[in-house]
Amino acid sequence: MKAIILAGGSGTRLAPITTAMTKQILPVYDKPMIFYPLSLLMLAELRDILIISTPRDLPMLEALLGDGSDLGIRLSYAPQAKPEGIAQALIIAEPFLQGSPACLILGDNIFYGASLDGTLAEAARLTRGAQVFAYRVSDPERYGVVEFDAEGRVTAIEEKPQRPKSSYAVTGLYFYDAEAPALARRLRPSPRGELEITDLNRAYLGHGQLRVTVLPRGTAWLDTGTPDALLAAAQFVQTVEARQGLKIACIEEIAYCKRFIDAAQLSRIIAAKYPRNDYGAYLEGVLKEQD
Ligand code: G1P
Repeated sequence: MKAIILAGGSGTRLAPITTAMTKQILPVYDKPMIFYPLSLLMLAELRDILIISTPRDLPMLEALLGDGSDLGIRLSYAPQAKPEGIAQALIIAEPFLQGSPACLILGDNIFYGASLDGTLAEAARLTRGAQVFAYRVSDPERYGVVEFDAEGRVTAIEEKPQRPKSSYAVTGLYFYDAEAPALARRLRPSPRGELEITDLNRAYLGHGQLRVTVLPRGTAWLDTGTPDALLAAAQFVQTVEARQGLKIACIEEIAYCKRFIDAAQLSRIIAAKYPRNDYGAYLEGVLKEQD
């Protein structure tokens, strides 16, 4: 399975913070936002990743992450000329996917929780249909919302409904079989002018091929869409990291622990990128602990 990070969008809700750059480069406490979705893919051992962003922001993302070879992964880049919807990412990614199933994650989605590793590893084995995740939120009207019947089966998904039929939002982490680009090409733009990911998920639902897994309440799915949400996400990360002395979404640590890179390579990264800083000191600690 290959993976796609969609790091696009105009970021209007966060302007002026995002007037000159994409929100996915903004810090969430001690690292850029895109480290969080990227780390999730790495934890799922998805190592062939396409990053899609605006033509304006791609050079900055490339300067940040490069071709991924230093982390033992492969990063490619493709532009989304206009913010024409999340489902368009699958059309843009078609040449990259070459018929492979895909994991698509939104560049501003932050997930954290102990049970995620196993859930992701299982989803990454998908070859038929689609798999999405639902999460209970207090403000479902801001998201794609899942409707369940009395037996807990999914009956419908609605995008930003005024009167949500449940409190379960569809998160920005999707797994699709090889049919997704063709199905996405058949979608028509919504009233807001976008190819909606909810419409793609509905197409799978209509074929009886959409699996919805509710993330357990011990999982954190954090929003970063408003200044308050961004600050709350940063404070969450800071709280957990300070308490445990362990970093969340430290991509170099994950590359090392997953054996994508060896100790010598981690030392080289520290010397080249993080000499004499706290992030580098943390990675030095990781090296020592694993000795
Ligand atoms: C998008 C999707 C929505 C999903 C959300 C998750 O919303 O359209 O279905 O619940 O991402 O972050 P948007 O970012 O366009 O508001």
